[in-house]
Amino acid sequence: MLSEQVQAKIEHELKKYPADQKQSAVMAALRFVQDEKGWISSDDMADVAIYLGMPKMAVYEVATFYHMYKLQPMGQHTLTVCTNLSCQLMGSNETLDYIKSKLGIGLNEVTADGKFGLREAECMGACIDAPLMTVNNRRLCARLTPEKIDRILTKLSAGGELASGEENVR
Ligand code: FES
Repeated sequence: MLSEQVQAKIEHELKKYPADQKQSAVMAALRFVQDEKGWISSDDMADVAIYLGMPKMAVYEVATFYHMYKLQPMGQHTLTVCTNLSCQLMGSNETLDYIKSKLGIGLNEVTADGKFGLREAECMGACIDAPLMTVNNRRLCARLTPEKIDRILTKLSAGGELASGEENVR
């Protein structure tokens, strides 16, 4: 069952849409669940479907289409590396390999301490700043180099947060 907090946020979102178009709030509803729990289970999808009066399969289709939704626990800091063409041409495979070696995990895995999870994603629409990754879907870290990755991992490991745009420039 959706928490009271998530239900309140969905109700606020629903004010933006006609009463017979509740399914329009599905992306926001999934985000609210993920913000609260860290990821979205199939039970959560079913709860969202019931709340919005739409088929569970339709919620599943949305949740699995967009890479920002996490369908399994992915650690305190989820690093999502773009591996689409432009980023590949700028070295995203090497970037990914470097992060894997630093963290000792593979794709879709979480470090033993639960601090980091690693995922890949399709184009994030920021190809000019390739290679790049996001942290928890909130911070874009662009033009990644081993040195920059080291700084990011060190800061996050120490409990710090990345400021907006902090690792977004050369
Ligand atoms: S290909 Fe990576 S942001 Fe576009």
